[in-house]
Amino acid sequence: MGKTLNIAVLAGDGIGPEIIEQALKVTKAVCKKFGHELNLKNGLTGATAIDQVGDPYPPETHQLCMDSDAVLFGAIGDPKFDNDPTAKVRPEQGLLRMRKMLGLYANLRPVETFESLLHKSPLRRELVEGANFMCVRELTGGIYFGEKGRKDDGNTAFDNCEYTRHEIERILKLGFEYAIKRNKKLTIVDKANVLETSRLWRQIGQEMAKMYPEVETEYMFVDNAAMRIIQWPKSFDVMVTENMFGDILSDEASVITGSLGLLPSASIGLHTSVFEPIHGSYPQAAGKDIANPVATVLSAAMMFEYAFNMMDEGALIREAVKASMDACVATEDIAGEGKAYKTSEVGDWLAGYIAQK
Ligand code: IPM
Ligand code: MG
Repeated sequence: MGKTLNIAVLAGDGIGPEIIEQALKVTKAVCKKFGHELNLKNGLTGATAIDQVGDPYPPETHQLCMDSDAVLFGAIGDPKFDNDPTAKVRPEQGLLRMRKMLGLYANLRPVETFESLLHKSPLRRELVEGANFMCVRELTGGIYFGEKGRKDDGNTAFDNCEYTRHEIERILKLGFEYAIKRNKKLTIVDKANVLETSRLWRQIGQEMAKMYPEVETEYMFVDNAAMRIIQWPKSFDVMVTENMFGDILSDEASVITGSLGLLPSASIGLHTSVFEPIHGSYPQAAGKDIANPVATVLSAAMMFEYAFNMMDEGALIREAVKASMDACVATEDIAGEGKAYKTSEVGDWLAGYIAQK
């Protein structure tokens, strides 16, 4: 039986609107196929929101997110802010405030390879083939949200990194639970040889590991993990780590799949979940119809699965994406020798594939 899906759409900046448009084509096609009603509402965020209302996450947008079943998010960021370290209001603050206000303490970033794209990976085929792991990133704590500021007339700067037991326990619990659902291996990434917050993570990890005897738990320093991702990515099953380490490692992990434009994410926690590609706003490509929409399309697949528990809908999107790659219907970042398709053409193809299924 069909349901009504209330989705907040925050397209944001740069390529955000273009890639969101493709994800919506696909979402509409899936809803049509499965008889779901779609109720889409747009909200302002990022640099676009700063330009229009002076706030990267205006209260109306927050209310819209709270009132929706899921949020589909494009990208945020604009070079005019990146190059101005003194800017008081920044687009990224909108994203961070959204995560904090919605209580999205966990960011799930599945790293998967596509057979037909293995040749695009910077790693040798035998290293990357079959690599498949879940990066669970803590999203509302740590250095991102600690006290920050300047002293000494602006000549000294600080960013405080703080974690509470409660914050660590709830994210590690998710890590253990995903490990149980997958291949029962959990890697807890930290810098416990240097950082006190990491030592608390490790201590709590060791306590909790006793409650999950079926999970093989390992502890790894972040520098070592960074190396291992490119040396032996197949050794990971579920990786859980704090906010900043997770940000860095997930970018690294994404490119071994062939393109940063492929990986989706789900941010989950206390209120409405947010689904967004892990890449940024790619301002150089904005408006050119060349950006890869697949990460956003796969984020929509995660939305069906995680927010609505609609596994068949999610699976159909994944099938369409795989079919597009096998048919070489791909944007320039992954097109190889063949013809490079436009962003909108890839979206049309995927929606068409779903419609004729
Ligand atoms: C991400 C992004 C954000 C982050 C930026 C845009 C603030 O890099 O979602 O990974 O650092 O969390
Ligand atoms: Mg990042």
